[in-house]
Amino acid sequence: MTKVIYFGTVVHSLSLADLQVLAKAAVGVDDEGTIAFLDTEAASPDNSALNHDWEHGSYEVVSIPAASFFFPGFFDTHIHASQYPNVGLFGKTTLLDWLNTYTFPLESSFSDLSVARNVYSRVISRTLGNGTTTAAYYATVHSEATNLLADLALEAGQRAFIGRCCMDANSPDYYCDKTLEDAQKATHEVIDHIQKIDPTYEIVSPIITPRFAASCTHELLSWLGDLSKKTNLPVQTHISENLLEVQLVKEMHPFADSYADVYDKCDLLNQKTILAHAVHLSEAERDLIARRGCGVAHCPASNSALTSGETRVRWLLNAGVKVGLGTDVSGGFTPSVLHTARQALLVSRHLSMKGDESHKLSIEEVLYLSTLGGAEVCCLDKKLGNFLPGKKWDAQLITLDTKNSPVDIFPWELQKQDDLVAKWLFNGDDRNVSKVWVAGKLVAGTSFSA
Ligand code: GUN
Ligand code: ZN
Repeated sequence: MTKVIYFGTVVHSLSLADLQVLAKAAVGVDDEGTIAFLDTEAASPDNSALNHDWEHGSYEVVSIPAASFFFPGFFDTHIHASQYPNVGLFGKTTLLDWLNTYTFPLESSFSDLSVARNVYSRVISRTLGNGTTTAAYYATVHSEATNLLADLALEAGQRAFIGRCCMDANSPDYYCDKTLEDAQKATHEVIDHIQKIDPTYEIVSPIITPRFAASCTHELLSWLGDLSKKTNLPVQTHISENLLEVQLVKEMHPFADSYADVYDKCDLLNQKTILAHAVHLSEAERDLIARRGCGVAHCPASNSALTSGETRVRWLLNAGVKVGLGTDVSGGFTPSVLHTARQALLVSRHLSMKGDESHKLSIEEVLYLSTLGGAEVCCLDKKLGNFLPGKKWDAQLITLDTKNSPVDIFPWELQKQDDLVAKWLFNGDDRNVSKVWVAGKLVAGTSFSA
């Protein structure tokens, strides 16, 4: 790879409330895809090069037109890759009947590797095309198909956590782990495979994945907790999504004080744990999750579609819980993190309509959740999430003024960068994602001709 200076408007989050919009910035990216410098006000790319001792001719320049900007790659902190064919299919179901009607029948078909290849190739290319550079994927119970998901993500260059679903209780006979030993063996098969194809877990990493407390025995949860301690691998699961589910978990795990306590007693709550939904938590559970340093994947599209409820994001953030966004395909109907950010903003307004304005999330805040917040949830914030020097160039080029753009830009708006970002959040889609890079490598969109 050659060194590159990206020159033009740069938009990225420095913190929850601080979205930096830089009209004329230069980002120098070295030949390993690491950001060497960010000049927030650059006279020209060559001028920046000179200031940073980059020899003339040793770098390429990528300049972008008006009404376009560089934005960090999105984090999807919760997505079921295997459920992608079902996006939009949920009727009037809620979680437990949705699982039985739509989800388990589809997931069980991944015993056929040709189904897995078809679905996984398409979900990776669709999410990359929507600017998702890092995804925390759930696969299915099948180790071979899960290994294939890891192969395909690595080949496409998308950062991915790959979770083989563990479920040895309360699941249909045709789709479950028949025994604890089956779950253990298949889990190891996936970890071993990923270690072989990406030994440092730079692009793809295994993630320990008990489906949720309602589909796992205490023995399996404990074994997975031990495994996470021994291997230091991340963990992902669902928590407190739906009231019937919360009740079921109480009945299945009577010795725990709460849903969160089921996981805590099995050593599954730590800094590398991603908990999806977190809609109906008690204050004590929230505080436990905060103490353990877990992150929450907020899935507003899914929580609305499956009528699960409204996650109190502000309430979580106020207690110091890390929060990112999850599409939760296919409980969620969109593979786009941008659309999910829009939904997060709207759900926060529904919460605030009940009388407490403080629930309301701003544009800056939901864009933070979609990038740096997600990076924190995945424990990758030292390396990813914005464009500070030392981080990797995981980025998207957003172009608003293109032929097929769903966003209409008027001449007098071109200088109002904040307005352009707002119009993109509410009206944009993948037609505005012109290019996507992971670690400096172009992974979607076409190359610039020199
Ligand atoms: N809880 C257990 N499994 C699932 C799933 O596949 N989707 C969602 N949204 N919740 C779950
Ligand atoms: Zn889910």
